[in-house]
Amino acid sequence: PTYETLLVERTGRTALVTLNRPRVLNALSLKVMHEVVAATELLDRDPGVGCIVLTGSAKAFAAGADIKEMAPQGPVDMYLTDWFAAWDRLAQLRTPTVAAVAGFALGGGCELAMLCDVLLAADTAVFGQPEIKLGVIPGIGGSQRLTRAVGKAKAMELCLTGRIMDATEAERAGLVSRIVPAADLLDEARAVAETIAGMSLPIAMMAKEAVSRAFETTLAEGVRFERRLFHAAFATADQKEGMTAFIDKRPPKFQHR
Ligand code: HXC
Repeated sequence: PTYETLLVERTGRTALVTLNRPRVLNALSLKVMHEVVAATELLDRDPGVGCIVLTGSAKAFAAGADIKEMAPQGPVDMYLTDWFAAWDRLAQLRTPTVAAVAGFALGGGCELAMLCDVLLAADTAVFGQPEIKLGVIPGIGGSQRLTRAVGKAKAMELCLTGRIMDATEAERAGLVSRIVPAADLLDEARAVAETIAGMSLPIAMMAKEAVSRAFETTLAEGVRFERRLFHAAFATADQKEGMTAFIDKRPPKFQHR
């Protein structure tokens, strides 16, 4: 399929989804939401895809929800359409996702990056939840995911003042896994995606599920959940292959990838 607001490219077992509304700094309209969800869910159902990279432009990953589209909305219509709820489906994808962020990741843009599993930042990336300056609060999970990522003090400051943080601060705070030079961002993101896609897909899905669970439950329940998946991993041919390959001192040839 083709999309109005996105470009989707497949290379081997990885997919690259690029937000493509450069004139409005990739403002996240409902159309963008529905297209990102449709495109990624389609890729998610394809066992030939082992990792999905989501990126924007050099200037903006996304400068937030589309303010012009939101401005006239009333609460009843927003409630009836459950405005922004479809974004939650991105967190439900089973295929690992990598956000490759350059430039502005503000408001919904920061929230979109946080919906992905691995967050790679260019040295040009800036993050923030400036909704308060518009008379609203984050609406795509920012108050929850930012707080879990960087802790209460910094999340409160960012959500209450709208201050923007640079990539260095975001990395120090634990929001992003790594900073790379802007010129290398896509190559690095592709390399990470190819590495993930080279693993056993069901095992990568289990790893994603287990880490994701840490945000949903108690430590004891999370550890039990991990242990059950760990045991289940021994039912796969890929566990036998992975361990045999190590013992034989050769690279593994995983079946499910
Ligand atoms: C709609 C946007 C937009 C947005 C930028 N544009 N951000 N349109 N929604 N979120 C448009 C501008 O109107 C302008 O279009 C064009 O993109 C270029 O933007 P400029 O402002 O001219 O660029 P620049 O001077 O470089 O400033 C970049 C910027 C600024 C600092 C990122 O654009 C900005 O502050 N944007 C809004 C950031 C923000 O508040 N995001 C949070 C959104 S609320 P024209 O046609 O004028 O040239 C949000 C809420 C989620 O995400 C949940 C709430 C319920």
